[in-house]
Amino acid sequence: MTDRLSNRTIALQQQDAKYHLHPFMEHPNIARVGARMIERAEGAYIFDTEGNRVLDGMAGLWTNQIGMGRPEMVETVATTMRELAYYNTFFYTSHPYVSELAEKIIEKTPGDIKKIHFACSGSEAVDTAYKLVKYYWNLKDQPQRKQFISRENAYHGSTTVAASLCGLTGMHPQFDLPIEGIHHVGPAPHYYNNGGDMSKEEFCDMCVQAVEDKILEIGPKNVAAFIGEPVMGAGGMIPPPDGYWPKIEAICRRYGILLWCDEVITGWGRTGDWFGASHFGVEPDIITMAKGLTSGYQPLSAVALGGDLADTIATSEDEMVHGFTYSGHPVACAAALKNIEILEREGLVGTPQQDKKIVKFNEALRTLSDHPLVGETRSIGLLGAIEIVKNKQTRERYSDATNIGFKCREHSFNNGLVMRNVGNTMILCPPLIITDDQITELITIARLALDRTLQDVTG
Ligand SMILES: Cc1ncc(COP(=O)(O)O)c(C=O)c1O
Repeated sequence: MTDRLSNRTIALQQQDAKYHLHPFMEHPNIARVGARMIERAEGAYIFDTEGNRVLDGMAGLWTNQIGMGRPEMVETVATTMRELAYYNTFFYTSHPYVSELAEKIIEKTPGDIKKIHFACSGSEAVDTAYKLVKYYWNLKDQPQRKQFISRENAYHGSTTVAASLCGLTGMHPQFDLPIEGIHHVGPAPHYYNNGGDMSKEEFCDMCVQAVEDKILEIGPKNVAAFIGEPVMGAGGMIPPPDGYWPKIEAICRRYGILLWCDEVITGWGRTGDWFGASHFGVEPDIITMAKGLTSGYQPLSAVALGGDLADTIATSEDEMVHGFTYSGHPVACAAALKNIEILEREGLVGTPQQDKKIVKFNEALRTLSDHPLVGETRSIGLLGAIEIVKNKQTRERYSDATNIGFKCREHSFNNGLVMRNVGNTMILCPPLIITDDQITELITIARLALDRTLQDVTG
C-alpha cells in the first residue's frame, strides 16, 4: 500500500472521523489514523479508495459465504424490491418469501426445529430467544426457571441482553452490565490456553463438570437455558475438545434445561456442515443465526425453535407480544433464499469438494507452525486461528502493552490480507468460495505479516 493518500481518501476519512461514531472503536484514535475506506468488493477481495486489492480473510465480519458482488444476488434483491419492497408480518399478514425461507431453514437445521422467528441482527435474535425462553417457562408454569448459563469468552452480541450473555468481561462495565440472572462458567473450552498439563479428554471433562457444578449451585429447577457458540468466534476462535457438545447436551437433558446454540458465526456452512450443532452431533432446542444466512447481502437473523419449546409457544392462545417492523423483511428473505440456493448449487457445504478445500486450508495453516512467533495453529471448517507466543515451549505470551496481535493485523492488511486479532490470537474466516490459489495467497501474506511483526518485537 502507498503511504501518500489521495485527496479523495483524505476528505472521506475526515468526513468519517467528524460525523460517524464507529462500533467497537477508540474514537480519538480513528480520527488520528483515518479509516480505511472500502468502496468495492468482488468475490473474495475488497478494494479501497486507493485502488488497493485486499484478500478478505474475515469474510467481512464472519459474514460472507458466497463471495461479494454476485450478479444473481443483485438481481434477486432488485426484483424483490420491485415486487414487494416491504410488507410486515404483523396483523394476520404474511408473504411468500418469509414462509418459504422458514421452511428452508427448518430443512437445513439439525434435530426437531419447527418454527422460525425473524429479526435483523444477531443481537436481536439473541434478545428474542432470551425472551421466548422466559415466555416458554412461564407458559409451562415454571416461572422460577429464569437463570441463564453462558461461558467465559462467549460473544453473543451488543444489545443489553446479548452483551450481558457475553463472557468477554470488557463488554460490561461501560454499560452497567450484566443484567441479573446471567451466569458465566469458566474456563472456556480453550485447550491451548487453559488445558495446562491435562490431556484433552481430562480438560473436556473438567469444562463440562464446571457447567454441571454451576447448574447445581443455581439449582437445576431455576436454570432456563444453557447458551453456547458451537465454536467460540469473537472470543478467539475456540473449537471445543472432542466430545464436549454431546456431554453438554446430556447434562441439559438430565436437568430439563434448554440447549441454545448461538450459530451466528457457525451457521450456514462455516464448520463444513450446515450448522455447528450438526457438526458436533447435537440437537439444540434453540438456534440463533444471522450473518451467513444472507452472506451479508441483506441484514437478516432468525431464531429457530424446536421440540416442546416450539409447540408450547405456537399453540398458546395468547398473543405473543414480540416482534419487529422488519421481522421477515421480504427483500432480506429473498436474498437468504438465493444465498442458500447458491450454497447448495455450488456444493459449498458438506460436499467432497468442500471437504477437500477445508483440508487444504487446514494443511496450509499448519505450515505456519514453524514460525518463531506461532505457538499453535488450529482450524475447523473454514475458521482458523494462529496463536502468537513469546515462548513456544512455555506458551508465554507477549504483554498486552506490546500490542502484538494488532501489529500483526496491520502488517497483514497493509500487505493485502484482512486478518483479525483477538488479543494475541490471529483469526481467519475466509468466504466459502475461496479457491486453492487464494488459500496459498492468504498463507503467504499471513507469514509475511508474522515476519514483519517479529521484526517489530525483536528490533
Ligand atoms: C455468536 C454471535 N452471536 C451474536 C452476534 C451478534 O450479531 P450482530 O453483530 O449481528 O448483532 C455475533 C456477532 O459476531 C456472534 O458472533
